[in-house]
Amino acid sequence: MTTIQDNWLTLADGQKMPQQGFGVYKLTDPTVFTQTIQSAYDDGYRLFDTAQMYGNEADLGKALKSLNVDRDDYFITTKVAESNQGYQKAIDSVKESLKKLQLDYVNLLLVHWPINGSFFETWRAFEDLKKDGLTKSIGVSNYGMVHLQYLATQASEMPVVDQLECHPWLSEKPMIDFNKQHHIVTQAWAPLGRGRIFEESAIQELAQKYGKTPAQIILRWHFLNGLSFIPKSAHASRIKENADIYDFALTDQDMVQMDSINKNVRISQEPELVYEFNQQYPH
Ligand SMILES: NC(=O)c1ccc[n+]([C@@H]2O[C@H](COP(=O)([O-])OP(=O)(O)OC[C@H]3O[C@@H](n4cnc5c(N)ncnc54)[C@H](OP(=O)(O)O)[C@@H]3O)[C@@H](O)[C@H]2O)c1
Repeated sequence: MTTIQDNWLTLADGQKMPQQGFGVYKLTDPTVFTQTIQSAYDDGYRLFDTAQMYGNEADLGKALKSLNVDRDDYFITTKVAESNQGYQKAIDSVKESLKKLQLDYVNLLLVHWPINGSFFETWRAFEDLKKDGLTKSIGVSNYGMVHLQYLATQASEMPVVDQLECHPWLSEKPMIDFNKQHHIVTQAWAPLGRGRIFEESAIQELAQKYGKTPAQIILRWHFLNGLSFIPKSAHASRIKENADIYDFALTDQDMVQMDSINKNVRISQEPELVYEFNQQYPH
């Protein structure tokens, strides 16, 4: 039997990334932040996913310090916000993020959303930040096929990760295949559909069949699809539950049943509109 800690993906640039990570969006109470990260670390999570936009990089920095472990023992992702895109702004903002995180480098730096202003300049900054050692790997988030093809017209190196909204209501199979063909790891955000999809009968049936929870069935589906995935929870029992998915298998037939749930329904924003408006819009 494997555990969360046995499953790593090798990125196209040679860096290794845990397949399952921990998202910290909406973890905003600094008093419980450190305890939550400690619980996740104790349960085997090594990848922690934050963003400039979440406003909690400094809390994560404090929590990492209090783990009192070597820098090599965790993998940190942060993301550059739309308002910080552009060559110099991206560079300055990443230096600021590193200060808040109390780190010399992040493992993975992502462009949070594609925007049409500064599209290429931001990526050039990312390539330079990687050359300067401020990040080990560079990637994007919420980029579709067209954004990636457009980026390829001027990029010196391509993203190694594309972090996408992905869950059973938005399974993104063609996009995942495209990324695979281009050696880009797809990482699922809102992998649990923010907890809104647990009542789906196909998921409930499989949960009963295996004596697992709906969350565990969904995460096992992501795992078997070969994706990286970063569920968030503020509750120690759920953090543990979400890591406990390595002692059962779904059959090919179960996977077909899970795939059939897709409705192409987004929980969050439409990347094409963010691209057009140059910012995330209220939704
Ligand atoms: N790149 C992007 O644009 C982007 C956008 C959004 C998010 N993200 C990243 O992706 C991470 C995960 O996405 P997300 O936080 O939006 O959604 P998610 O992980 O799909 O779902 C989180 C929600 O599900 C609940 N939950 C977690 N485990 C559960 C369980 N076992 N049983 C029942 N409920 C459970 C959580 O509640 P409790 O916390 O109360 O337990 C929370 O309300 C974020 O934290 C962030 O790091 C990236």
